[in-house]
Amino acid sequence: MKETILIDNGQDRSQEVKATIFYLTGTGNSLWTARCLAQELGDTEIISMTSWNENRRPIVSKAIGLVFPVHMWGVPQRVLEFLDELPAMSPDYIFAVATNAGQVSNTLVQLKNVMNSKGLTLSSAWSVILPSNYIPWGGPGPLHEQNERFQKARIKLTSIAQKIHERSKMPVEKGPLWQRIIFTFLYKITFPIVHKMDDNFWVDDRCNQCGLCVKLCPAHNIKFDNEKLVWQNRCEQCFTCLQWCPQEALQYGKKTPAYERYHHPEVKMKDLLNK
Ligand SMILES: Cc1cc2nc3c(=O)[nH]c(=O)nc-3n(C[C@H](O)[C@H](O)[C@H](O)COP(=O)(O)O)c2cc1C
Repeated sequence: MKETILIDNGQDRSQEVKATIFYLTGTGNSLWTARCLAQELGDTEIISMTSWNENRRPIVSKAIGLVFPVHMWGVPQRVLEFLDELPAMSPDYIFAVATNAGQVSNTLVQLKNVMNSKGLTLSSAWSVILPSNYIPWGGPGPLHEQNERFQKARIKLTSIAQKIHERSKMPVEKGPLWQRIIFTFLYKITFPIVHKMDDNFWVDDRCNQCGLCVKLCPAHNIKFDNEKLVWQNRCEQCFTCLQWCPQEALQYGKKTPAYERYHHPEVKMKDLLNK
């Protein structure tokens, strides 16, 4: 389902849309970011990359944005695949926002290079720091730190929207050199094995088989087999299943039973189920 900005008594004016933002999200940070930008820009529609295949339609706006989370210091597979959709939209201005937990590293440089190799130009790209949803390394941090990140992000998004409005062309944001060298190497090693890393998921006895994880998984990677949950090695490591489990019964490795779950406070499960 597309999210259209409705104006003037709820009339759908998608013909007048000035910008289209495609987003990818696991725990809502990137959806919230896309919504903030759409609100600032006005006449902007936001569309989930995950459901694009089922909801393809002509895109009228010539300014296209990509908003997505940094995964393992790089661009998630789904975003890389989505780039092949862009030439048909004939965009004249492409921008990107990578949400992350403080280590954007080389992600946006990688995106720019891959786009260049496909004949696409990334005009501007920014990093927006938000709470971490990478639960194997711990929870999202104390509430006051999360709120600080939301406030700083909101301010940055206002200035990003202004630059998008002006169609600014600027160098993409990137992490320090040491980060880009070490973490780009780690991304290259990890990327090919991400789909198999779901072998570390398990379920504790709080699981009531509600099946929400099956419905939420953007990769359709989880199924019931003889009343047991099975991950089928098509994992994109977004942690949507674990983070949204109402029973907090899904675990990954040994440490997650002790770690706090996270999703953006202004994003609800229905936002992901309806995408
Ligand atoms: C598999 C995975 C890998 C991640 N890797 C990084 C990373 O390399 N650098 C970073 O700063 N944040 C990393 N994060 C944190 C997310 O980028 C960050 O929390 C993001 O805002 C989540 O967005 P979402 O809620 O839209 O999914 C990672 C998260 C996941 C799930």
